[in-house]
This record gives sequence, C-alpha cells and structure tokens, in this order.
Amino acid sequence: MIRLAVFGRPVAQSLSPRIHGLFARQFGLEIDYRAIEATEQSFERQVRELADSGGTGCNVTVPFKNLAWRLAARSSEGADRARAANTLHFESDGWSADSTDGPGLVGDLESGPGFAINGKKLCLLGAGGAAGSVLAALLAHKPEHVTIANRTLPKAEALAASHADLGPVSACSLDNLASAGPFDLVVNATSLGHGGASPGIRGSLFTDGALCYDMNYGAAALPLKQACSELGVEYADGLGMLVGQAAHSFRIWTGRSPETRPVLERLRAAARE
Ligand code: ATR
Repeated sequence: MIRLAVFGRPVAQSLSPRIHGLFARQFGLEIDYRAIEATEQSFERQVRELADSGGTGCNVTVPFKNLAWRLAARSSEGADRARAANTLHFESDGWSADSTDGPGLVGDLESGPGFAINGKKLCLLGAGGAAGSVLAALLAHKPEHVTIANRTLPKAEALAASHADLGPVSACSLDNLASAGPFDLVVNATSLGHGGASPGIRGSLFTDGALCYDMNYGAAALPLKQACSELGVEYADGLGMLVGQAAHSFRIWTGRSPETRPVLERLRAAARE
C-alpha cells in the first residue's frame, strides 16, 4: 500500500485523490491517497505524521506551497525558482521538494492544443504563486520573449528579475499590456476566475492562430472561456495541466509514468455529467 495525500485549505474539492487512484490502477498499484485540510500551525505536524507512518510523499496546494519548500531537506531547481513546492517525497535521508506545475503546463500545451513554445511570444497574466510556479519551465522551452503582466507592477518586475538569467522576460502593468503584444500564447495565472471574472482581454492582444491557456479549470475557467469565445480566440483550460502535474508527482513517488490522456478524458466526461 502506497500512502499519499494532498494538503491544502480548502482541499475537499481536490481532484488529486481521483487522478492518482486512476494512475495507480494503470499499474495495479494499491494506493491510499487522502485530501487533508491543514492550517499554518498544523501543516508541518500533519505532513510529519504521514511521513512517520510509512507515507511515500504528498502533494501540497494553496496556501502551503512555500512552507513545503522551506521544510524540505533538498529541492529541485524548479522548486527553488518558484520558492514553492507542490510535491514532497519522503526519503530515508530527508524530504525532497519538487514543483511539477511547470512541466505539467508545458506537457499539456504540447499534448493538448499542440502548442510549441520555441520561438513564440508569450504573455503570462499574473505574478502570484501560480505564475511563479510555471515561469521557469516556460523559459526553459526557449520562447522569443515572455511578458509578465500584473495589476501590481512591482510584483511582475520582481518575478521577471528573479528569472532573467533563464531567458528574455520583462514586466508590464495590465493597463499597458496592449502595447507589448500581440502574443502567440497568453497564459492566465491570475485568480480572477475564482471571483467569476476574467482578465480584460481584447482581440489585438493575440496573433492570428494564437492560444489562450487558462491555468484555471471548472467553474473558475468559465469567464475567460466565454471571453475567448466572443473574440474567436482558441482557448484551453487547465485541467490537462492538473493531470500533467499529477503524472510528474506520481513518477517521483513510484518511478512509473502514467498515461494522462485516458485520465483527462474520464475527468472531462465526469464534468459533463
Ligand atoms: P495564486 O497562488 O493563485 O497565484 P496569488 O499569489 O494570490 O494566487 O496571485 C493572484 C494573482 O491574480 C496575482 O497576480 C493578482 O494580482 P496582484 O499581484 O496585483 O494582486 C491577480 N489578481 C487577483 N485579483 C485580481 C483582480 N481583481 N484584477 C487583476 N488581477 C488580479
């Protein structure tokens, strides 16, 4: 029995137990993957309890990703760039921290809409935790340029500065975004969708055939999906990224690479029911 969990707050709605259960079935593995709600005070103790009781590792979601990264004995380059971890692996000589969101996004861009980042003009909307978790992976795939656009300009500038050694990246305010485009890919990493809103986008932001990728999924993805539909811009939600990041975590814990497509199809079918 492989013992795993996702820690967050809130976490009850997490799709991760379902996704990892479907991955495990592909290999005939038995897993016990729970969704555990934590507080800032309880997080470390609860993770330690899982590790001490024979757990293999855990996922970590909002708002504990930075704390998870700080608690680990060692961390990947991606986690260090994000200063956050969504995956902990309990090893005999300490916890390893990883950030699998970036590889999950890039993999889904390729396998879903078939988008190749190399040589393209990218816009990352937002400069919070979600944006920070994917910027290094985007730059690693050699875009022509990444513009980070954020309501609070200094946060975008700080994020750009902390990744400037990885590739061409700059910052602008949401208000000045129009003059920085058009873009081949716009990635929405803002939390606006959770409030039923979408970033103000207009057609001139996009090149012909451009893609708008929303890191949100479910109800939080509907406002931007609607806005793109009205503009005639191709749109993809972040459900494939969610399954992709889970697959990378699963590989870290088990050494096995699960098939993501059938799992994504199952989730989409369940969402339609
Ligand atoms: P997450 O971990 O989901 O990224 P976060 O770190 O709180 O959450 O970041 C939320 C992002 O959405 C930020 O880029 C935030 O912009 P600010 O840095 O200016 O706060 C953006 N965001 C949230 N509400 C917004 C709004 N009403 N208009 C524009 N941007 C908004």
